Amino acid sequence: MDQKLQNLREQFREDLKSVASPADLTGLRDKYLGRKSGLIAAEKKRIGSLSSDERAEFGRVVNEISAEVETEITRLNEKFASEAESVSLERETVDITLPGTRPRRGHLHPITLVRQRIEDIFVSMGYSVSDGPEIETSFYNFDALNIPPGHPARDSADTFYVSEDLALRSQTSTVQIHTMQQQKPPLRVIAPGRVFRRDTPDPTHNPMFFQLEGLNVDRNITLADLKGTLQKFVEMMFGANIRTRFRPSYFPFTEPSAEVDFSCYGCDGQGCRLCKGSGWIELGGSGMVHPNVLEKVGIDPEEFSGFAFGLGIDRMAGLMYEIDDIRLLFENDIRFLEQFE
Ligand code: FA5
Repeated sequence: MDQKLQNLREQFREDLKSVASPADLTGLRDKYLGRKSGLIAAEKKRIGSLSSDERAEFGRVVNEISAEVETEITRLNEKFASEAESVSLERETVDITLPGTRPRRGHLHPITLVRQRIEDIFVSMGYSVSDGPEIETSFYNFDALNIPPGHPARDSADTFYVSEDLALRSQTSTVQIHTMQQQKPPLRVIAPGRVFRRDTPDPTHNPMFFQLEGLNVDRNITLADLKGTLQKFVEMMFGANIRTRFRPSYFPFTEPSAEVDFSCYGCDGQGCRLCKGSGWIELGGSGMVHPNVLEKVGIDPEEFSGFAFGLGIDRMAGLMYEIDDIRLLFENDIRFLEQFE
């Protein structure tokens, strides 16, 4: 064989050994297969100087070398491509055993949690849930609730007035009127909502707080129904051994009226820090709907009677979560709020 071709083949096989990267391979391809300055192209140019006998053999060997170069380059190309793919697959692999980053989950406000629990209890007793406006006319705030002109409850020292006739509601009892205007008895409704009073803030008072109104109007509703309903409610809310007590009171829109207390669940009525030693905790106001209120909304008090109650939701939340100061519920300090789930 032509010595030069023999050298070329050996040189290529030697060079092949030192190819370690795709860049080396490109260099090798250019060195041997480059159209103008490649070594094989340079060899081919020598064909003109050979005798016709030598040419055939020369051509066969050049083609053989050129085929070998191409085969080796293709093989290495595929090898590098498959190595690159393995590396990228390795890099993209997801390790499902690694601990994930837990997304921060929001949760409900303690008042919402307590309100939902109260709603569930009354819904299970057949009550529907309603609400009403937070700004009311004097008719809903006072007149319809049998609060006469000049009554201290109308005083601007107690109530937030928006205009002469409009004020922020100071109790959810206004929803009683809307409900009885919209529905005819029998009706059983609860209405949780915000109310506003010019109360000086302290651990059990806030100028904005939440009440739960309850209203049940039907034929033959008596005080016993009121007592039984609230007794059942505190048992479901605070525990089966909880008792209620009714103290005579006065509200213009109920007659008779009573403040409702329940026996302290912290000490079973013995007296503790939770109930400030009295053994009882105030739940709210209640009574039989005043005949004047029924008449104002066109319900015949001779035919129908009803009971109503208004409970403080914030104070219940305070008790359930052992929060000493209900003002904390409204400061929206995330460090405080995220304790309740
Ligand atoms: C009333 O508001 C009557 N509307 C309740 C009622 C409804 C009576 C239906 C008869 C028939 P009272 O002012 O007592 O009642 O308030 C009821 C409850 O609201 C209280 O027992 C207390 O738990 C809560 N409460 C009153 N003022 C505040 C305040 N400033 N901050 C937080 N809770 C309060």
